[in-house]
Amino acid sequence: MRLDKLVSMLGFTRSEAKKLISSGRVKIEDNVLRDPGANVKDDASIEIGGEIYNVKKHIHVMIHKPSGVLTATEDHKGARTVADFLPEALLRRGIGPVGRLDKDVTGLVIMTTDGQLAHRLISPKWEVTKRYRATVEGKLDEKCVSAFQTGIQFKDFTSKPAGLEILSANENESVCLVYVTEGKFHQVKRMLQAVGHPVITLHREKIAMIELDENLSEGEWRELTDDEVKKLYILTEMNEK
Ligand code: URA
Repeated sequence: MRLDKLVSMLGFTRSEAKKLISSGRVKIEDNVLRDPGANVKDDASIEIGGEIYNVKKHIHVMIHKPSGVLTATEDHKGARTVADFLPEALLRRGIGPVGRLDKDVTGLVIMTTDGQLAHRLISPKWEVTKRYRATVEGKLDEKCVSAFQTGIQFKDFTSKPAGLEILSANENESVCLVYVTEGKFHQVKRMLQAVGHPVITLHREKIAMIELDENLSEGEWRELTDDEVKKLYILTEMNEK
């Protein structure tokens, strides 16, 4: 790949990369290269101003989305988005969210620069399970559990069998875990509403085998570990890049 592209993958703009290169501050495999268009290996070792950099072709992070924030990288009306919590360098790499959470919903959002991975994780074909924790109005019971297992008929679709685990049930309010493999618009809220229990709060805890890190407060993020990344690629039958 072109040297300036490789350097920009570290988070520099293309023009910053060009300047760094032509000023002789970039070493590839221990040699100073001053031509931004030089052809270099994708995995070449890079040193800039004496610091060694590690170019990863793709970056994957988890973020704890707060309520009131859009799952998007920009909003033309100026609303806050999950991108507001990430450094510029990651955004320049083209990182984007895997699927969406409603504005009022909190919890786990995975973001990746690998569009194909993102596509597979939300595609119905791969049936990736998502786990939500919901607080709902009224007392959940076994009838609701069966309705989730059977599938609920809506005007526009019938939900695939889903799991409902009741954690606490009182006349006023219940708490439950919901396991769904689809991602239709407002799906969990609509399913709970359909069995007579409107959602009060909804929080996503898990996507496939990736659980929201309990050390992340709302608005905080971290890179996925190598092990987490490997699991996502194995799940979606892709080769890690
Ligand atoms: N189901 C919903 O209703 N909302 C979400 O944000 C995610 C799942």
